[in-house]
Order: sequence, then structure tokens, then C-alpha cells
Amino acid sequence: MIKCNNVQEQAHDLSGLIFERWREVFNAGEFVLGDEVPRFETWMSQRCAGAYAISMNSGTDALLLALKALGVGPGHHVITCSNTFVATVGAIVAVGAQPILADVGDDELINVDTIAPLLTTRTRAVIPVHLRGRPVDIDSIVALCNAHGVAVIEDCAQAIGTTINGRQVGTSSDASAFSLHPLKTLGGLGDGGVLVTTNPKIAEYARSARNHGLQVRDESVVFGMNSRLDSLQAAALNVKVEHLDHWLRRRKEIADFYNEALGETATGADLGKQRTGSSYYHYVVKSKKRDQLQRHLAEHDIQATIHYPIPVHRQRAWLNSQPATALPTTERLAQEILTIPCHQHLSDGDVEKIAWTVRQFDSR
Ligand SMILES: Cc1ncc(COP(=O)(O)O)c(C=O)c1O
Repeated sequence: MIKCNNVQEQAHDLSGLIFERWREVFNAGEFVLGDEVPRFETWMSQRCAGAYAISMNSGTDALLLALKALGVGPGHHVITCSNTFVATVGAIVAVGAQPILADVGDDELINVDTIAPLLTTRTRAVIPVHLRGRPVDIDSIVALCNAHGVAVIEDCAQAIGTTINGRQVGTSSDASAFSLHPLKTLGGLGDGGVLVTTNPKIAEYARSARNHGLQVRDESVVFGMNSRLDSLQAAALNVKVEHLDHWLRRRKEIADFYNEALGETATGADLGKQRTGSSYYHYVVKSKKRDQLQRHLAEHDIQATIHYPIPVHRQRAWLNSQPATALPTTERLAQEILTIPCHQHLSDGDVEKIAWTVRQFDSR
């Protein structure tokens, strides 16, 4: 089976180097906030043009602490999209604010046209999601929000390597949240995340609150949480960062091939191919006969998955607690989208087979 992700291969290929680093962590006995953690944060900061990078336990916590740092809480509205991993909306609910879901364009991304009608005096923040590693039009979203005194937090969980004008996304807004979950293009061997910000106050709050506000061992300045990136995870990530650009180049090469091979087919090429700067975390095709296409690919030993089959406003968690919401484009796309494998462990033969199998379905 050609798989949609390469978690095992990625860990396995680098296991020798990772075990070597882990031995150093064992010897030092620094399992919590040891040297590997600031080393990773320095790398992330450099990647983000010198912004503050505060590692934590997950991308979800990075969203949560960004919201808290900006003072978002009960009585506030936060606008985001519904075609995202449930964590984006979960973080808003967790701080006691009301999520307001905007529809997306045909490119699956939230934009100023869908956000603007939802802005009210209660809106405190907007969380655009760089879904699939496709850059949203962040400059126009920030301009709109600035004009209304509304904060912007970028959900960069899927966007390591995503660029606008050649620069890593995540530094145009008040703060951004990256995930280091193993499935991500840069993932640990367990959970992890990073909050990135150019605002020193947000950075200071996040650094403190991720560790119960402890400035020194026994003195706390703010109530927070335990959301530290483990030293062992940081060590694994410090090995992986050396390979990231190579992986990103391979993903782009594969995506370019799909764009060329599938662009004229009924399924059509990636919905985001017109967006330069995509890091191709997911490569998505679209078909009115999506479920049949998925089965056809499975019959040819190709795994294709759906991200996400149930938009957040159709989840039971939403239906049980939030107002009914209609999002026509989001709902239509959820019926048509299919993620085909696009990662660095695919051979040229795999990629050709996938493209050929999609084309064969179209010509039936
Ligand atoms: C768009 C999006 N937002 C937030 C998250 C949450 O990140 P984490 O799993 O690291 O908490 C994810 C993770 O899959 C995601 O894809």
C-alpha cells in the first residue's frame, strides 16, 4: 500500500542519529527544559526571521496561550474557519470565548470577504488557518483586522515551510501556532508545538505560562499550565531540522508533477496549486465522485484520506454546544476533497502510479 504519510520511515531513517542525541540527554539527565529545547527554539526563531519562538507541548497549547496572552476570554468572539482540525475551534472554546465560523473560498481558505461580514464590536481575534500548508492572504486579513482593532493569530499547524515572498509564514500577525505532531512535515516522536510572535509581551507571557509562571524553581508570577516541550522531543527535532528543506523540495517536486499530470483531468489538480509558497502538507484533488475515486485508489493499493470529512460545525461537539451554522462552500468541499499521498518517501514510480491511477478513474 502506498501510504498517505511517512511517519514510520521518517523516524526509522533518522533513528541512529536520534538515539545518539538521546544518549546525550540521558547522560545529562536534563529531561525537562534541557539544552536541546533552547537549541530547537533558536532554530525556529531563525526560520521565522528572528521572531520569538516558544516551544510547548502541542500546537493546540500554542493557540490557547496566544489567545490568553491577547486577553481573549468570556464575552469575546473569535472568527475562524470550520474546515480545520477541531483543535483550532477547541482552543477558542477552552478560553471561554465564542467561536464564529467563516466560510471559505474555492481554494478552501478563509479570506477577507468571508471574515468581514462577521466582524462585530465583540470580535476580539481572527484565526486564519494556512490549511494544507497553503498560505492564506495574510496581509489583507491583518489590514482588515487592524482597521477594526482585532488581533490575528495564524494557525500555522500545517505550515512549516510555507512561504509568502520567500519568507516563512507566521510572523505577519500578533502570534502564530505551529504543531510538531509526528504527522507534520516537521514532527517529533510525540506531541509538540511552538508559539511564534514578534511581540515581546506575548513572548514573555507564553514562556512563563507554559511552565506555571515559574521564574525560578519556587516562584511563580502568573498562573499557567504544564506545556513544555520534552528535551527528548526537542533532541529528535534538532536532528530532523537538518533534513527539512530537502523534504520540502521533494514535496514540491511531487506536487509540481501532479499539477502537470492532473491539471487537465476532471478531478483537477490541487485546489491550492495557484498559490505559490505552499509547502504541500496535503495535496488535495476534488471529485464529485470522491468516494468512488477513493475506493478505486484503494483497489490499486493507494491510500487516500479525507481532511476533513466532517467540518467542525457538523461535529457533535459543536452541535451540542454551539449555534446552528450554515457554511455552503465548506460543506460542498467536504463532499469532494481527497488527499492523495505527497511526501518525501514516495519514489518516482509511486508518484507516477498515483497520477496514472487518478487519470484512469477520470477516463472511465
Ligand atoms: C490546522 C490545525 N490546527 C491545530 C492543530 C493542533 O496541533 P496539535 O495536534 O499539535 O495540538 C492541528 C494538528 O493537527 C492542525 O492541523
